[in-house]
Amino acid sequence: MKPIRKAIFPVAGLGTRFLPATKAMPKEMLPVVDRPLIQHVVDEAREAGIEHFIFITGRNKAVIEDHFDRQFELELTLKERRKKSDLELLSRDLPEPGTTSFTRQQSPLGLGHAVWCARELVGNEPFALLLPDVLVQHKPGCLAQMMEAYRATKENANIIAVEEVPLDRIQSYGVVGIGKSKGKTFAITEMVEKPTREAAPSNLIITGRYILQPEIFKLLETQQGGAGGEIQITDAMIRLAKAQPFYGLKFEGRSFDCGSKVGFLSANVAYALARDDIAPALREEIKRLLGEK
Ligand code: G1P
Repeated sequence: MKPIRKAIFPVAGLGTRFLPATKAMPKEMLPVVDRPLIQHVVDEAREAGIEHFIFITGRNKAVIEDHFDRQFELELTLKERRKKSDLELLSRDLPEPGTTSFTRQQSPLGLGHAVWCARELVGNEPFALLLPDVLVQHKPGCLAQMMEAYRATKENANIIAVEEVPLDRIQSYGVVGIGKSKGKTFAITEMVEKPTREAAPSNLIITGRYILQPEIFKLLETQQGGAGGEIQITDAMIRLAKAQPFYGLKFEGRSFDCGSKVGFLSANVAYALARDDIAPALREEIKRLLGEK
């Protein structure tokens, strides 16, 4: 069983659902409390043992690259002002030199195409894929749970995180059908990207965390447009599942779809309520806003 060392983060999306906030700023840099969305997802990957972080960017996304670099002027000013804890925070988050890679998806052809853009950077080894729109609040994180499940399979398997959602939201996601369980995982029997309610095989959706074998790249090369006319990773996974073991993991934790305004705002509240330095004051403020004593 080959280890998972690299992770792909597709960050090329236009973020139109958050305009005008995302006119000049990538949506992945919107803060959840005081960390950008993308930083939360990178934290999750780091905690799971990922050693190399591959970002699929696009035009207007250069600030993401800057975020994962040093900021000398800022560091100097903080040093002069003896802001030790701020300096420590910055150095804790800084990736080791040489452990990040950035490549551009030149045209918005879909998530499958974005992943395919990483083929040279990933090479012939299994990898993790994390969609920064999705946050999962739990310790250990969602990817760490998947890594454990991956090791337990003792084979070069593919694993996707799945969770239940109400049927009226099903058409926004990739939806799976599951079969027999093996440990904490289930065999995936079906996958459909953005099905109608009637066509959905279950109420279990793909949550935006994947462990995939490198054979996916060959399939993506010939993948035709699917839902929304875009090259979908789900369609390539359907073909991969015919040749390789494919499992779903019902992970522990609460997920937030930060691609939606309500999901993003809920994530902010939930992550702030989990912080000792903010929670007491915020709880009071929420009560006040809701008109409670
Ligand atoms: C993508 C995937 C979908 C998955 C979803 C999770 O869709 O294609 O299978 O369920 O992320 O957020 P998107 O949100 O990019 O439309």
